[in-house]
Amino acid sequence: MQQIVSIEEMRAACGAATSSGRRLGLVPTMGCLHEGHLSLVRRCRAECDLSAVSIFVNPLQFAPGEDLERYPRDLEGDRAMLFSAGADLLFTPEPSSLYGPYHAAFVEVGGLTDGMCGSRRPGHFRGVATIVAKLFNIVRPDAAYFGQKDWQQAMLISRMVSELDFGIDVVVCPTVRDEDGLALSSRNRYLTDSQRRAAPALHRALDAARARALRGGSSPSELQRIVADELQANGLDLEYVEVRAARSLRSAATLDTEEELVVAAAARLGSTRLIDNVLFRTKAGERGTS
Ligand code: PAJ
Repeated sequence: MQQIVSIEEMRAACGAATSSGRRLGLVPTMGCLHEGHLSLVRRCRAECDLSAVSIFVNPLQFAPGEDLERYPRDLEGDRAMLFSAGADLLFTPEPSSLYGPYHAAFVEVGGLTDGMCGSRRPGHFRGVATIVAKLFNIVRPDAAYFGQKDWQQAMLISRMVSELDFGIDVVVCPTVRDEDGLALSSRNRYLTDSQRRAAPALHRALDAARARALRGGSSPSELQRIVADELQANGLDLEYVEVRAARSLRSAATLDTEEELVVAAAARLGSTRLIDNVLFRTKAGERGTS
């Protein structure tokens, strides 16, 4: 595995790979890697000839007062995990090489970023779209891999890629969970023991909402209530729970639709923010993964 810090060297290494006709995949991350990230790397390796992973804690996607300074970092641990997962290129750029002091070009994806995490984290998705566009322009991958856990992010990037003609296959991979259902996240290490015991209630609540939807005759507001009640019973502070069309992220007025739906929620345990979602169809019998 080759680690590259400079943009020019990364561009050259990736260009050499793709000009020889090899399929190049990219897994963008902010590091402090876990099995969720590694599942993306494995999928990338299975589908591409060469796999690149970026680690960059992107200041542009953190609002003032969020956890940029205390965001967990473990480059040595990450390198070891990526080496054993078989990544070929590791890109670890410096913030100053990606953003000059007068940086003024940003990528906005309208509509999809209203509501859900978008309205609770102002500027967050503009920061995500901008860094992912920059990474795409440096690496120029054939495919890029994202996790379902951050569903709104994955849909935003899919839309950016199709509407701005990046010509990259965006692959969304299932959420990897601990045995008790908690979605793996770099932020889980902030949880105290008792918070960690309470945390799986988020997934349980979303699963209960999905099960209720699949029985038929329910409504978006009933699903929201099921999630809110389960979280409250377990001491989690609900930030939002929304029922939306899975791809367009338009609010779902009814569950009586053939469209795939997503129930997405964010909750706080102390100062730690957790997000999760489930996908399903109430008609046509096809169920999404969670
Ligand atoms: P980060 O939180 O490090 O996540 C990197 C990728 O791993 C994202 O696509 C995320 O959805 C995926 N991921 C995280 N936890 C997962 C899990 N339990 N199962 C499956 N996939 C999981 O998301 C970001 O970084 C940043 O916003 C980024 C896209 C890198 C832009 O800065």
